[in-house]
Amino acid sequence: MSIRIRMLLSFSSMLVISLLFILLTASLYTIAATGDLQSFRDIYKAHYRINPLTEQGESIFQELKFVAKNDPDSFRDMPLLREYDFKLRAEKTGLYVRRESSQLFESFTFNQPNLDRALPPYDLDNTQIRGTFNINERFYAYAKFDFRYADGARGSVFVIRERSPFADLTRRLLPVLTILLVCVLVIANVLLYRWITRSVVRPLHRLRGSAEQIEEGNLQFELDPPSKDEVGRLQQAFENMRVQLQQSNRLRLQDEENRKELISNISHDLRTPLTDIRGYIEGIRDGVANTPEKMNAYVNIIHAKAANMDRLVEELFLYSKLDFKQVPFHLEKMNIVEFMEDSMEELRYDLEDKGVTLAWNNEAAAPVMVEADLEKLKRTVMNIMDNALKYMNKEHKRMSISLQADPQWATVTFEDNGQGIAEEALPHIFERFYRAELSRNSKTGGSGLGLAIARQIVEGHGGEIRAESKPGEGTTIIVRLRRIPTEGGGLGDGTNSDH
Ligand SMILES: Nc1ncnc2c1ncn2[C@@H]1O[C@H](COP(=O)(O)OP(=O)(O)O)[C@@H](O)[C@H]1O
Ligand SMILES: [Mg+2]
Repeated sequence: MSIRIRMLLSFSSMLVISLLFILLTASLYTIAATGDLQSFRDIYKAHYRINPLTEQGESIFQELKFVAKNDPDSFRDMPLLREYDFKLRAEKTGLYVRRESSQLFESFTFNQPNLDRALPPYDLDNTQIRGTFNINERFYAYAKFDFRYADGARGSVFVIRERSPFADLTRRLLPVLTILLVCVLVIANVLLYRWITRSVVRPLHRLRGSAEQIEEGNLQFELDPPSKDEVGRLQQAFENMRVQLQQSNRLRLQDEENRKELISNISHDLRTPLTDIRGYIEGIRDGVANTPEKMNAYVNIIHAKAANMDRLVEELFLYSKLDFKQVPFHLEKMNIVEFMEDSMEELRYDLEDKGVTLAWNNEAAAPVMVEADLEKLKRTVMNIMDNALKYMNKEHKRMSISLQADPQWATVTFEDNGQGIAEEALPHIFERFYRAELSRNSKTGGSGLGLAIARQIVEGHGGEIRAESKPGEGTTIIVRLRRIPTEGGGLGDGTNSDH
């Protein structure tokens, strides 16, 4: 059963039930407090003023009128009046005849001592011959005719019918009420239906349409601003989902783009050294390397190229493993001061070779303990240092590494005076495969993975990595790792010595 039908049924039943209750209450109230229903009575009176008698009663009244006009004195003839009265009784109607202020005849149908006083006064023009009156709670409708007896005395003949107002009223009004009820029902249902359709069913339909669009892969639409009800919230959730999907779609496409680019880059980066290696090997085979020195140089070049390729492949592999969170971190407590000093020792030869002066600036006098995977952290340092050396373009090549410690963080800053990074490239350098320098066959060739790997590792440790740079002047890479308390107790502030 659709929501529409269900709504329609529930509204209808609610309406019917409530209307029944209203009617029930109203009739109970009517029975309990009849005196208060003046307006009901007014309608009722109006009705009987126009048409007080039954058809039969009316024709008898016409006969009586004829008699009154032509032979008024025959109203003194009791048997005649009784005969008329008898005929009227069949219609639950009574006869009343008066002469001046005395009553000539009164049906005993009425048994109403106050009848004389309730009757209307003489009106010999007979401007109003039909009407109603009530005596206490009893209600009467009448037709009358005023005339003069042969001796000139005023007389009236009344045909009076007592009505029970409310039973009759109900009987007469019931069809009207029923029709009214049905009308109310229909109108209310139509209105509610339209309202519900507009606020619930139509948005749901639109949502379904949108879901179908999404199914077909179209995410480029926008839903109307949602209303504040449940459907609106559903619509909002749906819209959020669409935006989310669109975003992840965009990311996926971007990823795909990246991967494509990566593959083309890797093929390029692998092919170039491979071609070179082949060239040198062919040289050796063809006897070009005819002296031991040449041979040595060739072999060294081949070795270096192969090592480069190996590194690229290894980097790729590592990155993809880190990306899929497949590499476990072997965390161990270590003193980052010692760690940095060891790393620099390892790099000394490289630095000297390239003529770079390195300043080590340890601002933390005490050991600064961190929990880290030694091998991976070394990898990070190497990647950062590698860049610093690679993008160094100054005559006086300078680097400085410093360590600061605050109660929570150990911060290592790598500063170089290399070529710097353009402002628009700076936010992207930690992204995978991103290289600020687009020319790939420059001597600085790399995978664009170095810093991406560094970030994966640092963030894997719960730390942070960021870069600052002044293009042309130099670059600073800042790595922050969370400290752990030293054995002496407490974190210290890093400036106290630990005796
Ligand atoms: N110290 C630096 N000086 C200048 N540019 C840098 C430095 N470190 C990184 N970059 C820029 O950031 C990019 C990303 O670095 P990285 O991920 O290590 O890739 P790769 O070194 O393979 O190019 C580099 O291509 C380079 O443009
Ligand atoms: Mg690099």
